[in-house]
Amino acid sequence: MTHSVVNIAVGAAHAAGEIMRRHFLQVEGIPILRKARHDYVTEVDRMCEAEIVREIKRFFPNHAFLCEEGGASGAGNVVWIIDPLDGTSNYLHGYPHFAVSIAQQVNGRTEHGVIYDPMRDELFTASRGGGAFLNNKRLRVSSRIDLEGAIVATAFPFRSREHLKSYGRVFQAVFEKVEDFRRAGTACLDLAWVAAGRVDGYFEVGLKPWDLCAGALIVREAGGVVMSFNGEDDVENRNTLIAAPYKLMTQLRKLILTRWSVSSTEHS
Ligand code: IPD
Ligand code: CA
Ligand code: CA
Repeated sequence: MTHSVVNIAVGAAHAAGEIMRRHFLQVEGIPILRKARHDYVTEVDRMCEAEIVREIKRFFPNHAFLCEEGGASGAGNVVWIIDPLDGTSNYLHGYPHFAVSIAQQVNGRTEHGVIYDPMRDELFTASRGGGAFLNNKRLRVSSRIDLEGAIVATAFPFRSREHLKSYGRVFQAVFEKVEDFRRAGTACLDLAWVAAGRVDGYFEVGLKPWDLCAGALIVREAGGVVMSFNGEDDVENRNTLIAAPYKLMTQLRKLILTRWSVSSTEHS
């Protein structure tokens, strides 16, 4: 059963990836809607989401959904959490780094996660307790034990610039310790790449459940740790996230916490 759930998610992710590939670099004629400052949705996001939901519903007509574009629908203890196109700004700019992210939660806990990068044909999968895989090869987070020499992925708070000052302090503190940063523009791939050990760690502020649910499971199943800046595990309910191997998590979190400040009305 476990396998068939993942296989269905993989089928849906591949279908969405095919749509992305077909329209990539042809966005000129494609309708684009501005949801908020620096936040866009294209017809491609919508087509992908419709295709994913249609594909999953063929097998599970009674499951609930939380989709980035369509919001919450249905009821019950099984919920599919979907970002149909993570990295829309990259997509619109012809920057070939974006992906689809699909997670299945049961009673609020992520059981399965699938991330598909259509440009590299890379499929990241995990089921709780079953390990994480890239195209069927087992994944393991980086074995680095010190921030010296580490490459850390992050994202600038481009949609919530009120965090810029605080983020700047964090950036400086971490940058002083590591080799360098990467800002690639696709949260689910940042997480998948932590799982693959391609980057040694990752932190971001302001993620949504569809950005992180699949990726957080994939990191944990690859032996990594995912938590909020304050150390909470339920990152889907928080505003901040760090993903890293255990030893780097301790060092990163310590550095970040000393520089990060949020108003009392915000989540950690
Ligand atoms: C965004 C990307 C980006 C991250 C943002 C996300 P979207 O998702 O993952 O890398 O920095 O926080 O919202 O809007 O392209 O699906
Ligand atoms: Ca996203
Ligand atoms: Ca998206």
